[in-house]
Amino acid sequence: MKPEIRVFNDLENLSRAAANLFTAQAAESITKRDRFLVALNGGNTPMRLFRLLATDHRDQVDWKRVHVFWGDERCVPPDDAGSSYGQARDALLSRVPIPDSNIHRIIGELAPVEASGNYSLTVRRFASPPLEWPRFDLVYLGMGEDGHTASLFPGSPVEEAAPVIPVTAHYQYRPANRVTLTPAVFNSARRVVFMVTGAKKAVTLAEVLSDRYNPGQYPAQRINPNDGGSIWLVDEEAASKLPKKNIRNEEE
Ligand code: 6PG
Repeated sequence: MKPEIRVFNDLENLSRAAANLFTAQAAESITKRDRFLVALNGGNTPMRLFRLLATDHRDQVDWKRVHVFWGDERCVPPDDAGSSYGQARDALLSRVPIPDSNIHRIIGELAPVEASGNYSLTVRRFASPPLEWPRFDLVYLGMGEDGHTASLFPGSPVEEAAPVIPVTAHYQYRPANRVTLTPAVFNSARRVVFMVTGAKKAVTLAEVLSDRYNPGQYPAQRINPNDGGSIWLVDEEAASKLPKKNIRNEEE
């Protein structure tokens, strides 16, 4: 399925669209399956989304039925500025009535192999047979300037069989030891939403969304949901190198 590309004039409007997707997908999933399984991303881009969910959208979500996971995590303790769990906790999870037992974090303070093993057990508890992992209702992902997504980095070994793997990767000044879900897990999600902003990502984004398939260099290309489809929410700067056809300019 071709990805859907939506272009916004700024991060605020992009984040509002991402929050609307959360609210709508949560309502639909809870109606159909009585729970909503969502995987969050790390990095800077989702911070505004988290704050919107904790404020404007707080009363539109049945938080008791929401289960939060992460697509990846840096191996640092929760109070470290690099912790994806820590930033989501502070901006969102501590501000909404979600039970602690519905928060399924990657234990970043463990060594990568242990954290990966622990998270494998977590995802297995929510497995949607015959899969050995859950079919997430919604997955948010970001993309780095190098084309990585979650902690699937260019040139990293790809263990397609395991749902969770430990990874070592150097990107900007962020923690190198990480744990990530693998493409098979992301691709079984009902919906994947990428959020990409900034001129520095424009060239890479154009490559990732082109017909030139080179996932060794651009791991984000490995994400092609089997039957859910992906939506790319991008700002005008990140979209500046995309071919004008196939993109939808949003008024929001
Ligand atoms: C993480 C991520 C990673 C991130 C991209 C984009 O580092 O935690 O999951 O894949 O989404 O690096 O990060 P920015 O949003 O900060 O550009």
